[in-house]
Amino acid sequence: MIVEKDNRLFIGGVAASELAKMHGTPVYAYDEETIRMKVRALLDGIAYQPLRIFYAAKANTNISILEIIRDEGKGRAGLDAVSPGEIEIALNAGFRQDEIIFTSTSVTDEEMKFAIGKGVLVNCDSLSQLERYGRMSPGAKVCFRVNPDVGAGHHGHVITGGPESKFGIWAADVGSAFGIVEKYGLKVVGIHEHIGSGILETEKFLTAMNVLLSIIEKNRDRLESLEFVDFGGGIGVPYRPDQKAIDFREFGAAVSRLFADFCSSFGRTLSLVIEPGRFLVAESGVLLCTVNTIKSTPSHKFVGVNTGFNHLIRPMAYGSYHPIVLVNNCGSGRKEKVAVCGDICESGDVFTRNEAGIADRELPEIREGDVLAIMIAGAYGFSMSSNYNTRPRPAEVLVSGNSVKVIRKPEEMSHVIYGMSAGDKNKP
Ligand code: LLP
Repeated sequence: MIVEKDNRLFIGGVAASELAKMHGTPVYAYDEETIRMKVRALLDGIAYQPLRIFYAAKANTNISILEIIRDEGKGRAGLDAVSPGEIEIALNAGFRQDEIIFTSTSVTDEEMKFAIGKGVLVNCDSLSQLERYGRMSPGAKVCFRVNPDVGAGHHGHVITGGPESKFGIWAADVGSAFGIVEKYGLKVVGIHEHIGSGILETEKFLTAMNVLLSIIEKNRDRLESLEFVDFGGGIGVPYRPDQKAIDFREFGAAVSRLFADFCSSFGRTLSLVIEPGRFLVAESGVLLCTVNTIKSTPSHKFVGVNTGFNHLIRPMAYGSYHPIVLVNNCGSGRKEKVAVCGDICESGDVFTRNEAGIADRELPEIREGDVLAIMIAGAYGFSMSSNYNTRPRPAEVLVSGNSVKVIRKPEEMSHVIYGMSAGDKNKP
């Protein structure tokens, strides 16, 4: 667990300040137990059987984290890969080929060939892809993604249902999809949707489930080989203090009831699949950084740290809120309003912001040299990091109880500069 104890922040059994001392900053630190707990919460929270999850690896692709999810899933956790790279990571993490689904967009023939070669199920995102896949692999198993014209999510950038979204086959075109399926003798084993990310109100999720299920019902004669329905990911976690986690028991019960009723009227027991990303990993991770500069303008007191949107882009990209904790004084004493900013050369590089701009945060008094934890950074943190400003990516460490393991070394500067290690650079 990540907890405050005696006014100090702990990742598992290790003080965050110790982690910073041992591994330097910036560093991403993850708590193994939190990930395991979230996998169990999901699998236990949805009573319907058979239930499978495909972890949306894009949230955090560190191979050690994939291994934890696979292990805790005990045969029920597969992986949703969006690129050949993610297929490769999944196989290396020990997922079997039949536990991986390839759900990409604007897909090339080469990428499909790669997935087919690895024996991974292809989830087609467009009529174009379905046609090309059919041509390439007549008679093969296939899944296709439907855009149900229902979208949800924490920001416009991550809403993936509706006419503004590039994803899936538009619901009204599903008939054409079946035309292609029949032309190439494809076997539709799965139907998929994903309406968006960061959903804390589950009503839209259930509405979209209903839309997809009625499409399946309408096409039941063409779905003899259907094995599963995949309703995508998107379950949110609370970031802001005023946000509430979804009532997972209620949600799990509603999803189970809806799907069980559908299967009994459909006359077959299908597998229920969901694709959680953020839900499993967001709360397991923090980005630790060190304050190096404090300065003021008439509008703000800026607290400058040694990381930036090159390492955690969510505040900059979506105006997302991440709690920030002073690791050695989580809450006591005098507080003041500050803007915590990064070391990237853009004014938008402020961690305490919303979509409109800088939003000061009330924090205990901070001094240069203090270590801060940017919280709930386990999802879409490292996986969206970059080398902007020619800065290397940080290390990632995994805390398991009292022990700490480096699960990714800090990126070597020579990789950033030359795209290879210093040793290789000197080889002919
Ligand atoms: N399935 C599909 C097909 C997806 O495209 C995604 C996320 C997921 C599952 C998992 O969604 P989740 O459960 O994590 O919400 N970078 C953004 C989020 C982008 C999500 C993209 N697709 C952020 O930091 O909020």
